[in-house]
Amino acid sequence: MNTVYLDGQFLPIDQARVSVMDRGFLFGDGVYEVIPSQDGKLVFLDLHLARLNSNLKALQIDYHCEMQEWTDILSRLVAEHGGGRCSLYLQLTRGVQQFRSHVSAPGVQPTRFAMVMQPNEGTRGMRVITLPDTRWHNCEIKAITLLANVMYQQEAKRQGADEALLVRDGLLTEGAASNVFVVYGTQVHTPPLEGILPGITRRVLLELLHRHQVDCRELPIPVEQLARADEIWLTGSTLQIAPVLAVDGRAVGNGEPGTAWRRALHWYQRYLQVRRGGQDVTSNRIGVPAGRGTGC
Ligand code: PDD
Repeated sequence: MNTVYLDGQFLPIDQARVSVMDRGFLFGDGVYEVIPSQDGKLVFLDLHLARLNSNLKALQIDYHCEMQEWTDILSRLVAEHGGGRCSLYLQLTRGVQQFRSHVSAPGVQPTRFAMVMQPNEGTRGMRVITLPDTRWHNCEIKAITLLANVMYQQEAKRQGADEALLVRDGLLTEGAASNVFVVYGTQVHTPPLEGILPGITRRVLLELLHRHQVDCRELPIPVEQLARADEIWLTGSTLQIAPVLAVDGRAVGNGEPGTAWRRALHWYQRYLQVRRGGQDVTSNRIGVPAGRGTGC
């Protein structure tokens, strides 16, 4: 039986209940994280909780996720799941209010929910389509209000693709559930953090590329420049770094995962091994170990 966590209790999933007056249900008034777990260890939990706490603050939800408490909760869910490779879903809404009002009442307690999501999709070659980015202007908040993202991925699926790359004012922003990197020769570009989610995988990969002296820049990427890309990668907590094989039906490079991607994924996965064990999980800094001699 899949065990979930809800407001201080560990319950079988079919016994977990949330009120219909929960502001998450009525307004989508909440935030979430997806945290990978590998070999029974939570990956970058410190970075996920830091982002979650900053989002809670941005929404003025009066709750702070303590590292130790959430390590214990999520580790127990992973253990009950049997370890291995999986992802944790963690959601906090503003909570239950006795009447429906856009304005929240004082004293409402947040609803805290976590579960193991299975399976972890893992890294794979992706086919993408481009779509206009019609979302609101606060995409840096990892809000549970994901209607636009749902519509983009439904449309991608309808067109036989795996993900949608979003375009605003002629510039790439991000994927419906991923960040994007584009490789031109020896240069790697990724859109700057304006109106996109500051992905944890993006942040770690950028740091690793810099450490390995790859010429990597945060720059606006005009959508028409995708046609001359040698490689395109998508990043996300469950995807890690995934190669894009085709955009709108046109092959990227030779239509195969590229050598730069292979190297970047190798660095990333080696880094996960080094960081595994959670020794440095209390730090808010990425703490990427220096290049040589660290195993990266
Ligand atoms: N999505 N951009 C968007 C819009 C996302 O939804 C995600 C992740 C990312 C990548 O962020 P990170 O590297 O922190 O996972 C970028 C998650 C996994 C989801 O909604 O399921």
